[in-house]
Amino acid sequence: MENKLLINGGRKLFGEVRVDGSKNSFLPIMAGCLLAEDDFCLNNFTHIEDLKAMTEILEVLGCKINCDKASLYIDTKHSNNAKITHELTQKVRASIFLLGPLLAKFRSCVVAYPGGCNIGARPIDIHLKGLRSLGAKIIEKHGYIYCFGENLHSAEIVLDFPSVGATESLMLCATLIEGETILKNVAREPEIEDLQNFINTMGGDIRGAGCDQIVIRGVKKLHGCTYDVMSDRIIAGTYLLAGAMCGGDVLLDGAIAEHNECLLALLNQTACQIDVLGDKIRLRADKRLSSISEIKTMPYPFFPTDLQAQMMALQTVCEGASVIYETMFENRFGQVMELKKMGADIVVKGQTALIKGVKTLYGADVFATDLRAGASLVLAGLKAEGYTTVHNIEFIDRGYEKIEEKYSLLGADIKRI
Ligand code: UD1
Repeated sequence: MENKLLINGGRKLFGEVRVDGSKNSFLPIMAGCLLAEDDFCLNNFTHIEDLKAMTEILEVLGCKINCDKASLYIDTKHSNNAKITHELTQKVRASIFLLGPLLAKFRSCVVAYPGGCNIGARPIDIHLKGLRSLGAKIIEKHGYIYCFGENLHSAEIVLDFPSVGATESLMLCATLIEGETILKNVAREPEIEDLQNFINTMGGDIRGAGCDQIVIRGVKKLHGCTYDVMSDRIIAGTYLLAGAMCGGDVLLDGAIAEHNECLLALLNQTACQIDVLGDKIRLRADKRLSSISEIKTMPYPFFPTDLQAQMMALQTVCEGASVIYETMFENRFGQVMELKKMGADIVVKGQTALIKGVKTLYGADVFATDLRAGASLVLAGLKAEGYTTVHNIEFIDRGYEKIEEKYSLLGADIKRI
């Protein structure tokens, strides 16, 4: 039976909410556990569908997995399988992260092509080109990627684009390759640094994450460890945008302000008051905000594509006009049609959206098309007059654990039906 969210909008948000562990850190880190044959404990675990799907894949690969409320336990001592089928890769695109570790560990693996997804085609050419530079022989046939790594070697690689996933794939693979591998033009997202810290905690030797060059000294063997995965900057950003949109006084606990500098700078241009106190961020808003005239999604440290839809929801009710340029993915305006049903004034031309702020949004039946588009519709529902029903919330559950409970804590009238 379909789950939906029913929101009675129009309430201000007040209170404190804890930010969960980062999905985009967990995914490559879980893949990285395969590099050793040992026990791992990953803290700040969050029960979201993408991580459940990754757990299922690791189980098929022979890992034993347990979890409690906030930790994931992975025992990789008996991992023995290096084939991942279509049924598994369709569930979570991040299955591509397994290519690097499986290749490094078993020196051969077969992984079904992850295919496109709702936000764009999402090719993996940069991952494969990099692995080939590390000596892998790769054959793409019948929707599968066959990798052979008898002759893996260190290398100096310049990425064609600072892809987050490709940077992580190559870090994971090069960790067990003898010699020094240098990756240039890499992604600088905080998740890359989290992966570096995790690999070093398990005995690896990586430096440079956070800059545009990473140096990996290969080691022979890695061991298990306990690791605290960092908090999710996109979830933190989503709550901040909810507070800015609905008004009120919201305190985020366990947030890393430095990871959301670009968002905080933009919000500071409006009439929000933002205070950072250690790992807490407080946002107060008590009147209609003015529009942010220009927002462009770009690789970190610039404005993240994963907050574009939520930022658009905020702009629909600000005073003035805003232009949003989406430069990262070709199909990331899935929320636009739905926001328009609620009274938003948005015109899209290619990768550009022009938003003219309206005074009021009205409740409607709206349909999530992907994870972040879904998050933006929840924001719009929280602000709108009357009842909003958000459908297709399986997309939202991929990245936000029980989102309705978090907003209820802040005083919103929202429930799962
Ligand atoms: C990661 C995040 C995702 C976020 C994105 C951009 C995870 C699990 N997901 O996705 O939430 O939206 O970063 O910040 O961490 N590209 C290629 N060829 C490749 C790889 C990428 O052309 O081999 C292109 C993509 O199509 C896209 C751009 O590069 O246009 C950025 O993609 P990338 O940084 O790789 O994103 P992901 O790692 O897939």
